[in-house]
Amino acid sequence: MPLQIDQFMCRSDNFGVLVHDPDTGETAVIDAPEERPILEAVERTGWRPTLLLVTHHHADHVEANLALKERFGLAIVGPAAEADRIPGIDRKVGEGDRIAFAGRDIEVIETPGHTAGHVSYHFPRDRLAFTADTLFALGCGRLFEGKPATMLASLKKLAALPLDTVIYCGHEYTQSNARFALSVDPTNSALKERAKEIDALRAGGRPTLPTRLDVEMATNPFLRWHDPVIRRNLGMEDASDEAVFAEIRKRKDVF
Ligand SMILES: [Fe+2]
Repeated sequence: MPLQIDQFMCRSDNFGVLVHDPDTGETAVIDAPEERPILEAVERTGWRPTLLLVTHHHADHVEANLALKERFGLAIVGPAAEADRIPGIDRKVGEGDRIAFAGRDIEVIETPGHTAGHVSYHFPRDRLAFTADTLFALGCGRLFEGKPATMLASLKKLAALPLDTVIYCGHEYTQSNARFALSVDPTNSALKERAKEIDALRAGGRPTLPTRLDVEMATNPFLRWHDPVIRRNLGMEDASDEAVFAEIRKRKDVF
């Protein structure tokens, strides 16, 4: 049977996610932003967590690590590069490592830029990826601990995944990301259409995530550094990928 996923809000705009395999009963938690909503999701679904996959050290991703470990005795996996800042970490992982979960392998992709050690988790068999604060719907994470080139290299790795990969992200930022995306890519009809759908979802109090890689490739300016129209809008037709990406990121920081 396919994996089952429960996505729910934590704090103000963080997503919590449980990934459950009905065949084995195993359940993975993706990041631990806040204890109470995670416990409510466990209660609601009846899925007892066995594994916690941590993407990066920020407090809004690790706050409930120790509480979940104490309650469920789950194993905590997190980035080796920032292991000293991941409470309760049991296994330190990096690029290409594989984590056994419910009879399949989860693949670790190092995606630094937002933090220096940020990792994403890819479930190749299930066409799923959890990109936390690296790739957002219509956006990408702020560069707190990386240069534009670092984040661009991370996004290029994610862009190379199969196009039908379903993407879960760390925050519900999509509506404001859409406004920014339209400012650099105002004539993109797929983006205009998507912005309307996002407004409708948010007006109904519904999440805009997950997204899909092909949708992001067509509409997310942070994956479209190569696009001639965006380049023309920025006056950067002949610039490098890195320069175009850096300019888009810089504009978003002050948008
Ligand atoms: Fe973060």
